[in-house]
Amino acid sequence: MKIALGSDHGGFQLKEEIKKFLDCKGLEYKDFGTYSCDSCDYPDIALPVAQSITKGEYDRGILVCGTGIGIGIAANKIPGIRAALCHDTFSARASREHNNANILTMGERVIGKGLALDIVEIWLNTEFCGGRHQTRIDKISDIEKV
Ligand code: RB5
Repeated sequence: MKIALGSDHGGFQLKEEIKKFLDCKGLEYKDFGTYSCDSCDYPDIALPVAQSITKGEYDRGILVCGTGIGIGIAANKIPGIRAALCHDTFSARASREHNNANILTMGERVIGKGLALDIVEIWLNTEFCGGRHQTRIDKISDIEKV
């Protein structure tokens, strides 16, 4: 699985921890920035990460900002993106099983590193259930055409 990673300055430190975790697990990823704690605008990072997924270059994305909210709102503007803000393991699992989320967002200023990495591990290892949930995803796709 190829993973696209990104954060603004508010999520920079957690993104670096996620990179170490992915390295340990031997998972392939690309870091789309930001590359320092200098202030930047989260939509500038959300867009290329989201597009890398809708273009099929990467399978899943992980985006981090201060809260996980702004960067997720921005990513969800791209048709085909289902970005889920998860700050607990139940939501992380459900976002994959029920919503087929293709981007996980988290807030560095909200949760600690230990919980964040548990969330990442569960989110990456949980498959979509399909069935009735696919019907609902299809209806979300229909809304994108309105
Ligand atoms: C940056 O200060 C902060 O607003 C951003 O990281 C994020 O929390 C926005 O939703």
